[in-house]
Amino acid sequence: MTAQIINGKAIAENLLNTIKAQVSQRLAHHKRAPALAVILIGADPASAIYVRNKRLACEKVGIRSIAYDLPTSTTEAELHTLIEQLNHDDTIDGILVQSPLPAHIQDEHIIELISPNKDVDGFHPYNIGRLAVRQPTLRSCTPFGVIKMLEASNINLMGLDAVVIGVSNHVGRPMALELLLAGCTVTSCHRHTKDLAQMVANADLVVAAAGKAGLIKGEWIKPGAIVVDIGINRLPDGKICGDVDFDAAKERAAWITPVPGGVGPMTVATLMQNTLLSLEMRESAL
Ligand code: GUN
Repeated sequence: MTAQIINGKAIAENLLNTIKAQVSQRLAHHKRAPALAVILIGADPASAIYVRNKRLACEKVGIRSIAYDLPTSTTEAELHTLIEQLNHDDTIDGILVQSPLPAHIQDEHIIELISPNKDVDGFHPYNIGRLAVRQPTLRSCTPFGVIKMLEASNINLMGLDAVVIGVSNHVGRPMALELLLAGCTVTSCHRHTKDLAQMVANADLVVAAAGKAGLIKGEWIKPGAIVVDIGINRLPDGKICGDVDFDAAKERAAWITPVPGGVGPMTVATLMQNTLLSLEMRESAL
């Protein structure tokens, strides 16, 4: 079997076009465009690329993006003050603080400062909790993007045995909650998992979010499984690859996502969707 490749780039483009049409509709009805504040601290080259892509997506769909490019020396107190100001600014719908942050700033402190109704990354414990109790509002972008991508491919998740590899707060954990919500039987694997190969071999759906190149061997994949690779790893030669041994896995899987061009573009598209939703939710609460 050779897997069907899930073209995340094309699915994300479709989603962006839908959002663009929704934003245009708002403008036609004399409503304002959504606005996203994007805070980038320091000069991490990978973060600069991610942020550039997010700002370009804003431009494409008609979301106003407001750039805060701050020096590495920014203190937690200064960042606190900026977030408070943005929380109270009625013209701002979403606040995104690009991670990783410099070592002297605690990511988790900062996320909790963002008003949950402007937390368009879906990282705040309130929003993770909403997902846990089956009442999602602003959903973590990458896991939500995976669900939208599988839906767009007409893959029915109900009842599947799903294995998520990786238990990070921002990806692995909300991914497991999304799959539970979608009706999967979910197993989360991590560094203490006794037999990862066996867990993967039993799975109808494998979602790799460990951030380790080549961790998931192609021969582990159950024939006919769905394989979603969230990993983005840079090899010594500069090439980007996922966590799954793609060439071998695609010979066994029914569906597989490539890296790059798979999950990555979906994360940006769901960020745009969350920014529009954030504005609409606050408007309907007025
Ligand atoms: N760093 C890597 N991915 C992300 C993301 O989706 N959101 C934020 N805020 N930082 C990131």
